[in-house]
Amino acid sequence: MHAVMKITLTKTFILRCFLVSLFLSLPFIFLYLLFPQQQPFHNPVTNKDLRIRPGYSSYETYIQRQLNKTLNPRLRKIWTTRDWDRKIPVFARFFEELKERKLLQNTSKALCIGARVGQEVEALRRIGVLDSLGMDLVPYPPLVVKGDFHNQPFNNDTFDFEFSNVFDHALYPERFVAEIERTLKPEGVCVLHVALSRRADKYSANDLYSIQPLVELFNHSALVHVRSVDGFGLDTEVAFRKNGGTRHHRL
Ligand SMILES: C[S@@+](CC[C@H](N)C(=O)[O-])C[C@H]1O[C@@H](n2cnc3c(N)ncnc32)[C@H](O)[C@@H]1O
Repeated sequence: MHAVMKITLTKTFILRCFLVSLFLSLPFIFLYLLFPQQQPFHNPVTNKDLRIRPGYSSYETYIQRQLNKTLNPRLRKIWTTRDWDRKIPVFARFFEELKERKLLQNTSKALCIGARVGQEVEALRRIGVLDSLGMDLVPYPPLVVKGDFHNQPFNNDTFDFEFSNVFDHALYPERFVAEIERTLKPEGVCVLHVALSRRADKYSANDLYSIQPLVELFNHSALVHVRSVDGFGLDTEVAFRKNGGTRHHRL
């Protein structure tokens, strides 16, 4: 009899504990139901052909990861010596072809996004596009100024031409593209080199599987061409022309 009473009391106690904890968690359950998507790195453009890589706990973690490589003194030595002579002629050929297609002129004001030590800027200047500048997280004067491509340090409608082979480094692809469309003049041209058939390097922040996400992101521009290239591990060149008369603001 005594044992039966004890079991009944224990059961009542457990039931009470359960009801109290359920009551206390009700506000949290309501909050979760009201705001189910509140994650710090929720990215609205992620879809099946453009995937943001997981693992960045904050924007600082992402920037630090990029800087770890870009600031490496041993690599910087290689980029400014052996790679300098190897890569500039290749970039120069790409840009000459863009001139032949009337997408770039000697009078163009040009920006290279994610230019590191500025090999592509040097190539543009060598082929006669003298008003050319690079931008990267780490400056490399006089060719490259400091800037984050998610928030370019330039006014609206500044450039006639923007080139980048670092789309895969964008944690926020929609901002990467919106900033290009903002800083390009109306009718300005953007040329991207991207990797579609192989994965880019371990410092990439996204993976692209077709050009469709780019076409959707460049929603104030027209697609000019898509062609195969052999650009240091990047296999596809995509060119866009910004629509005339479009007004842009920072996102
Ligand atoms: C693969 S390297 C390309 C360098 C150069 N374009 C070339 O072909 O030699 C990627 C570059 O993007 C830069 N980068 C990464 N995230 C960036 C950001 N948010 N804003 C500006 N540059 C960034 C890195 O610092 C690095 O120099």
